[in-house]
Amino acid sequence: MVRPTEQRAVHSHNWSLLGRCFLWCLLAALVAVLLFRLGAPIILLLLFVVCPVAAVWLYAMSERPLPVPLDPCPGTRGRTLNWIAPWYEKCCARLGLAHAFRVCLIEVSGIREGDHVLDMGCGTGRLACLAAYRAGETGRVCGIDAAPDMIRIAREQPMRAAVRPRFELAIAEALPFPDASFDVVLASFLLSALPPDLKLTALKEASRVLKPEGRLVVAEIDRPASLVGRILGATLGLSTKLRSHIHGRTDQILQSGGFVPLRAANWRSSIGIWNCRNAVSANPEGPRS
Ligand SMILES: C[S@@+](CC[C@H](N)C(=O)[O-])C[C@H]1O[C@@H](n2cnc3c(N)ncnc32)[C@H](O)[C@@H]1O
Repeated sequence: MVRPTEQRAVHSHNWSLLGRCFLWCLLAALVAVLLFRLGAPIILLLLFVVCPVAAVWLYAMSERPLPVPLDPCPGTRGRTLNWIAPWYEKCCARLGLAHAFRVCLIEVSGIREGDHVLDMGCGTGRLACLAAYRAGETGRVCGIDAAPDMIRIAREQPMRAAVRPRFELAIAEALPFPDASFDVVLASFLLSALPPDLKLTALKEASRVLKPEGRLVVAEIDRPASLVGRILGATLGLSTKLRSHIHGRTDQILQSGGFVPLRAANWRSSIGIWNCRNAVSANPEGPRS
């Protein structure tokens, strides 16, 4: 199925997207109610005024035509975050998952000068830019994402690295790269955006594009530790995309995809809601050491 991105302004209303925008607003309102212990009048205001207005605004923003036309991208059943792209970095910062987290992930990944690196589900491209800095002038970094606005923002990202990463609109379940072309594949919060069957398809694709001695580096949500995290986790766990990660089963998924665990590090974000597991695994096609 091909989704020509330039045609988004012409189609009829996307009720499912509008519904999802409303659910996200409700979730944000729930978190605000829990965090700030809001009273009944404010809850009613949130429910009947703020949530509907915010949902319609989010919907309008995500359906606006793109300023830069991109090539058509195959459709995906993954949760593409096009609608939140302009605010994505701010959300990461609020959740304690911005620069410091990404620097830590790059440390864990062990990317070296000259490495060829792919960032699957690269979002706004910040991690890929850090990877490009590490890989240096002789390295090569590509980022792919299924959300056109994420790719547009990634392409405009300011950066210090000598060689700019290449950002493409593509899906993780059909990577547009030849076999054995990368030393490292990064997947930061991509698996939790995919339904269970696509998690395995994406892992298979990662294994295909990795060189035999290559490594997959996955950052994922892990079991929440704090009370607010557990309440939020119980709500988010209703989604089949997120459930296995919130229940701490990321390593099992990687092993089902054939990857061999090498090392892992845990990251507890400053606000304590998100615990993350950063796991490095060896390509199943490669040497087992
Ligand atoms: C939670 S964000 C993570 C972004 C970035 N990697 C980070 O760590 O900040 C998940 C990203 O995966 C993208 N995505 C969802 N389904 C995808 C798919 N099938 N193929 C590629 N990207 C996908 C979304 O558009 C979104 O940008």
